[in-house]
Amino acid sequence: MSEESSTWYKDAVFYELYIRAFADGNGDGKGDFAGLTARLDYLQELGVDCIWLLPMYGSPLLDDGYDIADFYAIHPDYGTLADFCTFIAAAHARGLRVIVDLVLNHTSDQHPWFQASRRCQEPYTDYYVWSKTGQEYANARIIFLDSEPSNWTFDPLRGEYYWHRFFFHQPDLNYDNPAVQAEMLRVMRYWLDLGIDGFRADAVPYLFERAGTNCENLPETHAFLRRVRAVADTEYPGKILLAEANQWPEDVRPYFGGDPVDPCLPGDEFNLGFHFPVMPRLYMALRQHDRSAIVDILQRTPPIPGNCQWCTFLRNHDELTLEMVTEEERQYLWREYAPEPRMRLNLGIRRRLAPLVDNDRRRIELLNSLLFTLPGSPIIYYGDEIGMGDNIWLPDRNGVRTPMQWDDGPNAGFSTSPAESLYAPVITAPPYDYACINVAAQRADPGSLLHTIRHFIQVRKLHPVFGRGDLCFLLGPPRPVLAFLRSYGGATLLALHNLSDGRQSCALDLSAFIGQVPCDLLNDATLPAIGAGPYAVELPAYGYRWLGI
Ligand code: GLC
Repeated sequence: MSEESSTWYKDAVFYELYIRAFADGNGDGKGDFAGLTARLDYLQELGVDCIWLLPMYGSPLLDDGYDIADFYAIHPDYGTLADFCTFIAAAHARGLRVIVDLVLNHTSDQHPWFQASRRCQEPYTDYYVWSKTGQEYANARIIFLDSEPSNWTFDPLRGEYYWHRFFFHQPDLNYDNPAVQAEMLRVMRYWLDLGIDGFRADAVPYLFERAGTNCENLPETHAFLRRVRAVADTEYPGKILLAEANQWPEDVRPYFGGDPVDPCLPGDEFNLGFHFPVMPRLYMALRQHDRSAIVDILQRTPPIPGNCQWCTFLRNHDELTLEMVTEEERQYLWREYAPEPRMRLNLGIRRRLAPLVDNDRRRIELLNSLLFTLPGSPIIYYGDEIGMGDNIWLPDRNGVRTPMQWDDGPNAGFSTSPAESLYAPVITAPPYDYACINVAAQRADPGSLLHTIRHFIQVRKLHPVFGRGDLCFLLGPPRPVLAFLRSYGGATLLALHNLSDGRQSCALDLSAFIGQVPCDLLNDATLPAIGAGPYAVELPAYGYRWLGI
């Protein structure tokens, strides 16, 4: 296998998909594997490489499946294990890879391990983190601030407190117990044996607890995660692991493993890690008409080993997290992007991409262009490729998890069930109503957002520089312009973005490329040859260009 094909994920475009929301195959009002399998042609046509599935396990669904009661079952709402296997085979037959969520940190309180642990039944007594006082680890922050007053909850049955970093009904597993470690490796092997291509590993910073620390990113946690990787690499070569670690770049860097000083040595922890801090800064730079926030965070991002890759995103199934910004920046982003209290949740904003930018096609495209040209593998959140809206009147994060809008027929083509049986209402309020925003309409319209995103994907696939190129900012143009070069294997991409609502003229120093003739990768137009003086390019309001040099 060549170096490039063994690191396919560096060139990949990911598609994050909520099974419940995507397509209902049996008419019960909830999405399922049969529905999803029948819609795979759409994803193939869109051109994405890898699907990331939100949890599909046995669960009381109090956290949409991140509260797992049976790691070995498919949730009956989604179908059977056979339906899951049919889906995997159908995806692979189309050249699509599939990764699934692996929730290592916690289970549902309905999990039989927790029920046994509450009763001190062996061998489960120490499967969770128990305390007589509930006073330990006071330095650990609370993540679900709007619903949880503490990381400890008292269990009257055992007469002790149990530890949980998320909802009270999601007790944290005790990784100091070797039996827990063995159980979770077994879970991992089970799904890899069924042919999936890897995992998005949920909430990995919190596996271990130690007194006097904030209980995040501990050396013990990294040691276990490297064990996870070793199992994957030895027993399932070619499978990938993607880390969800919502941390500052220097704290995410160790999740790639390898040598902290020498980036030439290969990573041995995660193949991929989300770049959380860059995401809110894309929105900030856009609102401030100033590239500084993006430049600063990427200049602060340490290099990662050559076999690793960042994953970037604009939105996902959670609130748009504002944990990795300063208090002042958070207040600014809340004010600008979440003026109504209902738009806010915990330390974030529960809105989708299109409503965040007032359904302004230019800004939606600009943000996507940044996503596609900056370093990292982009992840598209289902529905954002057609500019779906949200429903802030639904609780928790449900407002960004509404049914996929396929066409203007009943239930947006999502389900044949009566409307009142849908797991969540389809969006009917203009301008995001499904009669207006849907796949069928955008498929038929060559000028639609769907076609633009498809085109971005196609162009990206033709040029390895997008996934593999290094990054060099050109800071000569005015601050509303984000200009950067990406270079790989003799090819160079010059990406230009105008973050402002006015025209911008850039005079670029391209003296390293004198004599070259840039080509616009998005429309194949040829630009004037690069001469000795500054190279002039005009950008319309929120304009962007991808130039190959
Ligand atoms: C991750 C998931 C989120 C979930 C939480 C607890 O942050 O993205 O949806 O609620 O973990 O499992």
